[in-house]
Amino acid sequence: MNLILLGPPGAGKGTQAQRIEKSYGLVQLSTGDMLRGAVAAQTEIGRQVKRIMDAGELVPDTTIIEMISERIDHADCAQGFILDGFPRTTPQAEALDVMLEKKGMELNHVIEISVNDELLVERITGRFTCAKCGAGYHDKFQKTAVDGVCDNCGGTEFSRRADDTEKVIRTRLQAYHAQTAPILPYYQEKSRLRQVDGMASIDEVEQQIAAVLDGGARP
Ligand code: AP5
Repeated sequence: MNLILLGPPGAGKGTQAQRIEKSYGLVQLSTGDMLRGAVAAQTEIGRQVKRIMDAGELVPDTTIIEMISERIDHADCAQGFILDGFPRTTPQAEALDVMLEKKGMELNHVIEISVNDELLVERITGRFTCAKCGAGYHDKFQKTAVDGVCDNCGGTEFSRRADDTEKVIRTRLQAYHAQTAPILPYYQEKSRLRQVDGMASIDEVEQQIAAVLDGGARP
């Protein structure tokens, strides 16, 4: 099963992708994580995209499309994947269709996690991640069970993203509305788009997504 999670910054794409990974045995493909990895490793791509990401703008389509096309060829994707943060423009959505057809793969679900803009700033500014395993948390909405200790791996170091400032979030939201939201009709026309209420709690959103993935039957 291959699926796309769509939604604005902070909608919960990464949070839900981590849960789907565990429940359905799929691989999370986050273009944001891949790019942050390239920046941290100071690769050629990393050097090219750092300024763009820090500003909250979108990285050029060609860079992203090549990166995803190469990643989908890895053996682990044969078990199915969750696209998190891709596609983000109409050219990316069109390129994905061509890419999947060439590789003999299909897209089974496109799920939009919808959330009002006002909530997103609070969600993003409160986000932090385990530096060791990457598990995601929130100061208010998803705390660690024991203060300062990762529930998943016991790690005690956490990090916050450089682009999670209120100023950059405004630019990221503008980019979402101007460049990403226009791809929703693309998937609507193909009758693939399903919407879930991202304003609900993390557990409730997970249940709504499971209902879509299980074809209506809740586990
Ligand atoms: P990327 O890393 O993809 O960031 P994003 O789309 O801005 O999404 P986020 O990761 O911020 O949000 P999310 O929806 O995953 O929310 P999360 O689950 O963490 O992209 C970063 C940058 O890379 C872009 O700006 C761009 O420069 C570049 N880039 C990446 N892909 C690109 C592409 N395809 N094309 C061009 N450029 C690209 O949740 C947020 C917080 O809220 C968490 O703390 C979580 O605990 C909490 N939370 C989640 N759900 C709920 C809930 N239901 N209730 C309460 N709290 C919740």
